[in-house]
Amino acid sequence: MPTAVEPTPTSAKGLEGVVANQSAICYVFGEEGRLIYRGYDIHDLADHSTFEETAYLLLHGDLPTRDQLKAFSSAIKAAQKLPKVVQRIIKDAPLTANPMNVLRTAVSASVFVDPDKGDDSAAAEYRKAVRLIAQLPTMLALFHRLRNAQKPLAPRRGLTLAGNCLYMLLGAVPAPEAVKALDVALILHADHELNASTFAARVIAATLADMHGAVTGALAALAGPLHGGANTEVMKMLLEIQTPDRAEAWVRAALAQKRKIMGFGHRVYRTEDPRAAHLRRMSDELGRTAGQPQWHAMQQIIETVMRREKGLYCNVDFYSASMYYVMGIPLDLYTPIFAISRMSGWCAHVLEQHADNRLIRPRADYVGPMNRSWIPPNRRV
Ligand code: COA
Repeated sequence: MPTAVEPTPTSAKGLEGVVANQSAICYVFGEEGRLIYRGYDIHDLADHSTFEETAYLLLHGDLPTRDQLKAFSSAIKAAQKLPKVVQRIIKDAPLTANPMNVLRTAVSASVFVDPDKGDDSAAAEYRKAVRLIAQLPTMLALFHRLRNAQKPLAPRRGLTLAGNCLYMLLGAVPAPEAVKALDVALILHADHELNASTFAARVIAATLADMHGAVTGALAALAGPLHGGANTEVMKMLLEIQTPDRAEAWVRAALAQKRKIMGFGHRVYRTEDPRAAHLRRMSDELGRTAGQPQWHAMQQIIETVMRREKGLYCNVDFYSASMYYVMGIPLDLYTPIFAISRMSGWCAHVLEQHADNRLIRPRADYVGPMNRSWIPPNRRV
């Protein structure tokens, strides 16, 4: 019998530097601190686009014409209401549940009643994507209002996805500045190449599992504090620090204890994350308007200390935290809001994976014992 030749393992812990697949959706230029969606610079999109337009761009590959955008926005609006089964599952969640776990469960369950369930054609998967993008804000708001003993609100006509998100969560028609800020934040979070949750979605999709399964896995991955959960941790840190004059000593003490400062560092960027510039500006502006400039002031000090002490730059989760806080958004909704945006990117990646699929199955660099023989339990020590 010929012996199989094992491949020589080359392992990169955390897959650092590994190029796992080709993609035409998004690219991070780590050295330059540049980010593009479908060839468009993130600064251009943040300055001029809308979340709906950006989601269309990610899903289709090109910016929509005026009519295409109108049709896409209408399709989102038409799909915002939740099916009864999904409503019931959210109503059954404990009021103390983590909202990311509620979203993950509701998204997974929404496949039961998806009109295209079982149809994995590209057209059906696209319709599922539109429904998922549309329904995530409604799912989140339903849970949030129930846990606060408030009457759930139906999506309001005439509001964008960002506007409806704020309206359904906070219960009042939001100010245009708040809608604009959230809309820009949603654009900035919509995709980020092969980040952990998107890679998870692609691994699941590559087994030919369906869209709902893939994005359920992505939601689970996003919840972790090393990924989308970092924004909540940033705000907890600011609340603990309390005042700008305590910020430097607090960070230095944390670093001396070898603790990680949330909202800093990145696997790919070696310079400033281009998304941070927009969030820094909005956190400053909204903080002043809300009469709470202290959070932004504290963050500027932390940023300086981190650059000086560790050579680290802040990432997307740093300034989004204080921006959401002064908008009155509860801490445990920051990561779900990230998910509302990233759903568009996840869906675009699942569509791309299915369009030219191959199972994703890497090898392990085995470092465990070899050649052991089984012995009966009574002879084991
Ligand atoms: N605070 C303090 N030190 C940090 C740090 C942070 N936020 N991020 C990285 N470092 C240090 C590590 O301690 C390590 O130092 P060492 O070599 O002396 O041990 C070095 O930088 C490399 O960090 P590592 O965790 O191996 O990098 P990574 O590429 O595996 O991880 C992150 C990237 C994003 C997970 C990491 O920077 C981190 O945990 N950041 C905080 C969480 C966060 O903000 N996540 C959101 C990402 S968008």
